[in-house]
Amino acid sequence: MEYQNILLESEGRVSILTINRPEKRNALNQATRDEMIAAMEALPASGQRVLIITGAGEKAFIAGADIGEFEGRTALDQREVMRHRRVFDAIEDCPLPVIAMINGFCLGGGMEVALSADIRIAGKNARLGQPEINLGIIPGGGGTQRLTRLVGEGKSMELILTGDIIDAGVAHDLGLVNHVVPANELRGFTLGLASRIADKSPVALALAKESIKNAGRMGIREAMTAETDLFCLAFTSDDKREGVAAFLEKRKPDFKGKQLIPIGKPPA
Ligand code: COA
Repeated sequence: MEYQNILLESEGRVSILTINRPEKRNALNQATRDEMIAAMEALPASGQRVLIITGAGEKAFIAGADIGEFEGRTALDQREVMRHRRVFDAIEDCPLPVIAMINGFCLGGGMEVALSADIRIAGKNARLGQPEINLGIIPGGGGTQRLTRLVGEGKSMELILTGDIIDAGVAHDLGLVNHVVPANELRGFTLGLASRIADKSPVALALAKESIKNAGRMGIREAMTAETDLFCLAFTSDDKREGVAAFLEKRKPDFKGKQLIPIGKPPA
């Protein structure tokens, strides 16, 4: 598929999806969201193992939803848009680990993209916030939920009710971003982390992601039961055999991502 609003590149087994509207501070219009979803849905079949999402240029990761598209929309029009497949869900559902590489303004829907990702790395120049309140609206891409789960109700309230924009250091203190690095080291640092993850078993990565996500979706007993099932599902993979054999043979494992019994298909 030809993309107009995003760029896709590969560094080994790491895919980098760059929102490419720097003149609009990488604001997410519908076309961009559709392209992001299409790119993410094609990823599992590509053999790639980790996805990095970032923004083009030096000013913005993503400056939010494209505010121009709000104008003239009725509540029903907006509801229709929001009932389509959501980019935030596509990130969360992606079996690959997703890393947000935050290289500047990360606002509104941009923050919600980052919050949907599995790991967030910020350049020192990053500025983060949910400024929707200043437009007379509220976060609608999961911000009230995912931010609250990540930083707690009090801080989430303060950020969303004030619309304040915080710098990368404050975001790190809140646990909102995993690491802050100098802007000129952001790509190298993020790629280094992504490559280390890309060496792991993609089956185990997908199962671990699903199980961790269950912590926010289920009660503890249900999630523990699901963890046991997912753990046992990892036993169906050739990667589990390879990982154990490599340990016993004192060598580095070579994970191929194969399952002995494909998930969802009974053995022949
Ligand atoms: N939607 C649509 N267009 C946006 C946008 C958004 N969320 N964010 C920035 N742009 C556009 C601007 O309208 C401007 O377009 P123009 O050149 O055609 O006038 C261009 O991007 C550059 O923006 P500008 O404000 O001049 O850049 P800046 O570097 O001085 O400031 C921001 C950057 C991100 C601080 C500022 O653009 C901003 O506050 N954006 C809105 C953030 C927001 O409220 N997001 C939540 C949306 S729900």
